[in-house]
Amino acid sequence: MKRIADFKVVSIHHICDELFEIEVQCVEKLEHIEPGQFVNVMIPDTRQTFLRRPISICDVDVENNTLRFYIRKVGNGTGKMSNMQTGDSLNIVYPLGKGFDTDSQRPLLIGGGCGIAPLVYLAKNFYAKGIKPAVLLGGKSARFLTLKTYFNGIADVYLCTDDGSEGEKAMVTQHSLMKKVRDFDKIYTCGPQVMMKAVAKVAIEQNIPCMVSLENTMACGVGACLCCVTKTREGHKCVCTEGPVFNVMDLENFAD
Ligand SMILES: Cc1cc2nc3c(=O)[nH]c(=O)nc-3n(C[C@H](O)[C@H](O)[C@H](O)COP(=O)(O)OP(=O)(O)OC[C@H]3O[C@@H](n4cnc5c(N)ncnc54)[C@H](O)[C@@H]3O)c2cc1C
Ligand code: FES
Repeated sequence: MKRIADFKVVSIHHICDELFEIEVQCVEKLEHIEPGQFVNVMIPDTRQTFLRRPISICDVDVENNTLRFYIRKVGNGTGKMSNMQTGDSLNIVYPLGKGFDTDSQRPLLIGGGCGIAPLVYLAKNFYAKGIKPAVLLGGKSARFLTLKTYFNGIADVYLCTDDGSEGEKAMVTQHSLMKKVRDFDKIYTCGPQVMMKAVAKVAIEQNIPCMVSLENTMACGVGACLCCVTKTREGHKCVCTEGPVFNVMDLENFAD
């Protein structure tokens, strides 16, 4: 069930100037969360950042009622979040959207940049069902792949970077694992649109079902403003309520 709740920052870790991880704790018991769902965060001091900002749920700890986010500073909102201190409050609407199914026996998870974040909780959900997924992560350089540690022991991890500083020097679709892509029965991908389109193209060519998580710019996050719509074969749909996860075959011209 969707809820507005106050959370407290319990830790913040600055990976580099651009990237940080933040863990927040709810005073109440967390609602049930599906992998791939997101939150809408009210940024403290709303004069410049009136609208809530959508952020993927990277990880969930139901014992401690905490959520983890992995964030790239791109503007005022994410910049202000990066300046938060332990003990600060954050008002959050969660869980939003329709996430990933875990309807696969041989899943391949492909993430790029901040799109790696929702794959952490997805991999955990597969592992809890007794399935160890393959996870292929791509980034500009090694420092964009720090989330890889969360997959230790729960997934088979494959890495690539643009500059070769970690894993293969390649884009995800050029990684050697992709030569064996037919070993998998479903692909789940999140990351830059150009990366997801390239992954979707391979999936369609190889006839493998593919789920993509879209990050269209959002405002209300609850289906009221229509600013996040995407074209599907059944007409326009709101990414915030009908997505962010879509089967690529339901999207119009996504992989063209
Ligand atoms: C469902 C969903 C999940 C997301 N998950 C994450 C996440 O886990 N981690 C993370 O770092 N970011 C995530 N984003 C993107 C994040 O919401 C934006 O980066 C953030 O809202 C920017 O706010 P800002 O105030 O810092 O920047 P603004 O001042 O609003 O904008 C600064 C720049 O960022 C661009 N920008 C704004 N929104 C987006 C967007 N949605 N996608 C791409 N560029 C954008 C603007 O065009 C502008 O160039 C997600 C977005 C969506 C829709
Ligand atoms: S963000 Fe308002 S309808 Fe989706």
